[in-house]
Amino acid sequence: MTWIGLDRSSGTPLYRQIYESYRTKILKGELQSGERIPSTRELSTQLQVSRNIIVEAYEQLFAEGYIVGRHGSGTFVAEGTYLETRHHNQMLSMLDPEPTIRLSSEQHDMVDFRPGIPALALFPRKIWMQLAQQECTHAPDEAWGYGKPEGLLKLRSILARYLLRTRGVVCHPEQLIITTGATQSISLITKLLLTPTSDVILEDPITHEIHTIFTQPGARLCPVPVDQQGMITHALPLHTRPGFVYVTPSHQYPLGGVLPIQRRVQLINFARTTDCYIVEDDYDSEFRYESAPISSLQGLDPDRVIYIGTFSKILSPALRIGYLILPQTLIERGRNLKWLTDLHTPTWEQMILARFIEEGHLERHIAKMKKIYRKRRNHLIDSLTEKFGEQVTVLGHSTGLHLIAEFADILFTTQLLERLEQCGVKVYPVEIHAIEKGKHLHRIILGYGNLSEEQIETGVQRLALILK
Ligand SMILES: Cc1ncc(COP(=O)(O)O)c(C=O)c1O
Repeated sequence: MTWIGLDRSSGTPLYRQIYESYRTKILKGELQSGERIPSTRELSTQLQVSRNIIVEAYEQLFAEGYIVGRHGSGTFVAEGTYLETRHHNQMLSMLDPEPTIRLSSEQHDMVDFRPGIPALALFPRKIWMQLAQQECTHAPDEAWGYGKPEGLLKLRSILARYLLRTRGVVCHPEQLIITTGATQSISLITKLLLTPTSDVILEDPITHEIHTIFTQPGARLCPVPVDQQGMITHALPLHTRPGFVYVTPSHQYPLGGVLPIQRRVQLINFARTTDCYIVEDDYDSEFRYESAPISSLQGLDPDRVIYIGTFSKILSPALRIGYLILPQTLIERGRNLKWLTDLHTPTWEQMILARFIEEGHLERHIAKMKKIYRKRRNHLIDSLTEKFGEQVTVLGHSTGLHLIAEFADILFTTQLLERLEQCGVKVYPVEIHAIEKGKHLHRIILGYGNLSEEQIETGVQRLALILK
């Protein structure tokens, strides 16, 4: 007799418990193909439940193919229903929340210098929630339907004014497309402008994901080296006809240089000569500590520069919201492509963000965060200098949420990075972002946006334990 345990106090209906019980036993092979299972009458007597309940459970098992009926001779476990236990256990362990909980508590003490993460604890939850609640209450019914691929006109108009004032970006709201972050803007541009025969010119090193996106349509990467002032523009390859030149001129990622005006002019002249676009990724320039933010490249030649911005660093990467500013000639195709990609960015978030900017919360938040990040950055520089003295050179620290630490006598190999991690500190090698390998082995990226001063100090102490 097959043992079926029923829990009459549970919220799960009895038919469901019987069905689940048989299903599990069949999948695990405890009940084997061809094996007879009790008739509905027998089982109802055995379990002391009404026969209708058993019939309902069996109907489900029949419908899903676990059991078959042989006319006149009863009900049997169907062929091909045994699933190897390893898979079953794996599935169960995936459903078990325990391992994740254990993992996160084990790593609780890790100091993670992951770059590009803002202070997550300081997300302006209260005001965001108030605005969300107000928008939810008062938004017109149409707001809950499909939107337009380019996004809400209100947000685009507010953004166009904001960007002109703060970044010198010259655009009409029509030119803006609200995207789900800079990564989507980069993907859209790639699909719009690159073909398998295209060349794409880009800084080297540059975020690994970004050069991977460019190679997806089969385009050829033409890396241009970077120094402390960003892309070395006199090394631009003259005899190419690139789809575009991609740059991070306000804060080169990851090395941190800011492109001076002479190089900006040289870059624009190059784009004019080769008749290509420039893609300006302005991902975190709001946090500039040494002087006012540098004006955008886009403002120098709005017809030639495609501008990309994001709220991942100013507010939170979890929002997945950013924007793309296209020259007139690309607007229609850009909107079509966005529509075919994901129709549009969630309207709900756009409504909240529009109010957040319109009412001045964004600029207040940036001003507040800038002070906090400056303190964290200074603390990191001081701690590194105190622990390592001349052994370390700090680079690219004028802007953003990370800096570069260069240790002339140390190679950051996988083994060394693993040892550091075992010691409770996680750092990120510049080399993973390099296209031409082998030039940045002495350098690591240290993100400080999401670390308190105490964590920064502990992290540097742990680095010193291994590196000194
Ligand atoms: C150069 C660069 N641009 C943009 C982003 C941000 O992308 P997103 O807006 O998709 O979060 C990153 C990621 O950190 C980056 O390294």
